[in-house]
Parts: sequence; C-alpha cells; structure tokens
Amino acid sequence: MLSEHNNHQPIAVFDSGVGGISVLKALHHLLPNENYIFFGDSQNAPYGEKTTEEVRRLTSARAQYFMEKGAKAIVLACNTATSASAKLLRATYLDIPIIGIEPALKPAVLHDYGDLGRQPRILVMATALTLREEKFLRIYQQYQDKAEIISLPAPHLVRYVESGLIGSAEMQQDLSQLLAPYVAHPVDSVVLGCTHFPFAKNDIKKILGEDMLFFDGAEGAARELKNQLNLRGMLSDSTTPGQITFENSDPSAEHLILSQQLFEAQI
Ligand code: DGL
Repeated sequence: MLSEHNNHQPIAVFDSGVGGISVLKALHHLLPNENYIFFGDSQNAPYGEKTTEEVRRLTSARAQYFMEKGAKAIVLACNTATSASAKLLRATYLDIPIIGIEPALKPAVLHDYGDLGRQPRILVMATALTLREEKFLRIYQQYQDKAEIISLPAPHLVRYVESGLIGSAEMQQDLSQLLAPYVAHPVDSVVLGCTHFPFAKNDIKKILGEDMLFFDGAEGAARELKNQLNLRGMLSDSTTPGQITFENSDPSAEHLILSQQLFEAQI
C-alpha cells in the first residue's frame, strides 16, 4: 500500500489516441480531486486493426513509462488495449490497480425496454480486435440468448475522431453507409464499445434517431477505479481539484490541442 503522500500521485489514463478522453471525463467527474496524466498514442492509432501482440507490446511499453512516472493506478481507457493486455498488466504490476473497459453489453441487455414482444436488438460498435478477442466473446456468449446482438466494427470512425473531423460531411456520409442496415431494420440500443465513439454520438443519432439509447463503459470504469483505490487506501484526500496533464505520442501539437477540446466538449 502506498503512503498517504503517494496518494497524490497521478492516475495514468491510456488510450490508442484521443478517444479515451471520453473515459477521462467520467473519471474526473467522479474523482475530481485526483491528479491525472492522460496519454494518447495517436501516432500508433488505430489499435483496432493491429494484431493482439502489437497492441500488447505498445500497451506494456506505456505501462512501464507510467510506472516510472510513479502512477498510483493505470486506467486502460481503450476497449482494444484492455482486451489485448489487461490480464498481462495485472499479472505484471501487482501493487497498483489496473482498470480496464469493456463493451457495456450487460447493461444494454439488462435494460428495461418495456414490452417489445421480442428480444431487444442491440448493435455493438467496437474495433475489429475487441470484437474478436476472448473478453468480448465471453460477454457475448453470456447474453446471446437474451438479446439479438449485432457486432459492427467501425474503424473509419476512429480515424475521423483522431483527425478532429467529428461532425464533418465526410464522416456523416460514411456513417450513413455503415448504419444503413439499422435504419432499414432498427435496433433498440447501441453499445459504444470503443472509447472514441461517444464523441460521435450526435452523428449516430442523426442517422438512427434522436431517441436512440446508448451504453458505454466509462462510468463503470470510473466506479471500479474508485472502488479499487478505496479498497487499497489509495484515494486522494485532497479537497481541491486535481491537475490533468495531457501527453501524446504525436510530436506535433495537433493532438494535444484536440485533447483539450475533447475534454471540454459535451458528450
Ligand atoms: N479507443 C479504442 C477502443 O476503445 C480503440 C481505437 C483504435 O482502434 O485505436 O477500443
């Protein structure tokens, strides 16, 4: 257990790019007095189209970096990195909580949809890697009898968010094509199983309807972080707002500026 002084050490939050800022917002909302380092690996994004081994290598190297910085916890604010590496990191770093994120299929299935007269139809948007990894397949198997679950990889969406092109005509057109089958045959909810996608929620609503119901794992990850820090006596006792530091593997300032903008954006 860390000393009280070390409880002011930062919580490291990691994503393949800027998408994980959707999770950072939830963490900061629940634990505003903690210090955070957010690292986006935009230079290597997207992770969703890499092999599991490549993602493991990139994530392990970043975890080592966070340890050197004295992080008191690591949040993998990336479904893809979690699927590939969470187990390995937990086995490597026993002294600090390693929090992951997974597609929020469970709350989507257990949601009360009223009297549909059929099983709920749930669209899970995530990266190809997340959708083929054991972690998601296990949740899928657990709930496949209770809902019609449709898995949809959406790699272009990650690129639009990374390029700051959210809401662009180009993105809207691509999304319209991708989601056309679910306009023709509507779904009851959408699981945003990639942390980049909450930033595209409004664009998705324009296609699937303003009332579409969304689920993502950010709040669950925030609760789990709080719980783990609490159990280990590692919660900050500060009574003033903590600091947030943004870092990015992209050497230009572009992604740092985008990070700040996304942190301030309404989602
Ligand atoms: N934000 C990441 C996730 O939650 C993945 C994006 C990517 O493909 O790099 O899965």
